[in-house]
Amino acid sequence: MKTQRLTPCENGINTACEILKNGGIVGIPTETVYGLAANAYDEYAISKIFKAKGRPQDNPLIVHISKLETLCEIAKDIPKSAYLCAQKFWPGPLTIVLKKTEKIPCCVSAGLETVAIRMPSCELTREVIEKSGLPLAAPSANISGSPSPTTANHVLSDLDGKIDAVLMGDSCDVGVESTVITLVGEHPVLLRPGGITLEQLQEVLPDITVNKAVLSELEKTEAAASPGMKYKHYAPETETFLVEGENFAQFVNQKPNAVAICFLEESDNIKIEKIIYGSKQNPETLAQNLFATLRNVDKLGVSEVYIHAPEKSGIGLAVYNRLIRAAAFKVINL
Ligand code: TXA
Ligand code: MG
Repeated sequence: MKTQRLTPCENGINTACEILKNGGIVGIPTETVYGLAANAYDEYAISKIFKAKGRPQDNPLIVHISKLETLCEIAKDIPKSAYLCAQKFWPGPLTIVLKKTEKIPCCVSAGLETVAIRMPSCELTREVIEKSGLPLAAPSANISGSPSPTTANHVLSDLDGKIDAVLMGDSCDVGVESTVITLVGEHPVLLRPGGITLEQLQEVLPDITVNKAVLSELEKTEAAASPGMKYKHYAPETETFLVEGENFAQFVNQKPNAVAICFLEESDNIKIEKIIYGSKQNPETLAQNLFATLRNVDKLGVSEVYIHAPEKSGIGLAVYNRLIRAAAFKVINL
């Protein structure tokens, strides 16, 4: 298949919408990461997403909407807390898991009785949803297991020839995937940290708890509340370690054949090969550069990589959550 490169102007957007209405799959930018979109009501189109990504069948998709009315079409028994979150955080990088209606096919929810929903803040994404008139199921537009794409070229490097088109928008502002919460159980639970922080959520949902899988590895026998959390993710081929503690420069300087992934503030003290992934003072930059940095690791031709862990607060929690997976849970405490 030839993958069309669509410019993000009226023509390109119209072509993307036509492809989606005809059951095709299109890479689209959002404020978090690029998504691989299909009509959420079309089972055959959804099956193409799973095939192109090599995604396990038991990992459900997020449905993207552009207006609140669509929520009642795809979710039922919606609690008041969902409307409070929607009012405060939508459009934006928050995904809410709710009970699903019959309209959502089983393949979208991977057989669960629930569906994950978000309203993106990226105007281009919302325009595609509006103009196609469809809720769009869209996982991140990467090959399953590789870092999520934050540019149109990342999408092409994973999926060129396997999908109908890519809408060639800008690089993504947030850089990590949306925050996922569930409002289905007795109290709200954070399933995946992201652009909307735990601290922000606590203002609306004071009794929110954090699922164990956010910061630690699940035992083989434990069920994952969010199926995506049980898969190995984002991991470079190069052996990767996450390092916590202040003396990062001193530690990596004793590893002359490795590469250090570090903060701007400490880079002058690091004498081995290094990549700066952002500023410790400004952790949004760590999130923005994280996946592009992980994509570059294997091009360096070294055998080991040491990444300095951010604080586990604010957006740092989302960065940390992705990094422990990239390091296959190998954490060194200095
Ligand atoms: O920012 C994002 O969320 C991006 C952009 C494209 O919107 N999408 C994204 O999708 O990250 P994906 O498929 O890569 O991640 C969806 C996550 C997975 O961890 C999945 O297991 C979880 O959401 N999920 C989806 N439906 C669920 C459900 N019904 N219950 C629990 N977790 C669910
Ligand atoms: Mg993904």
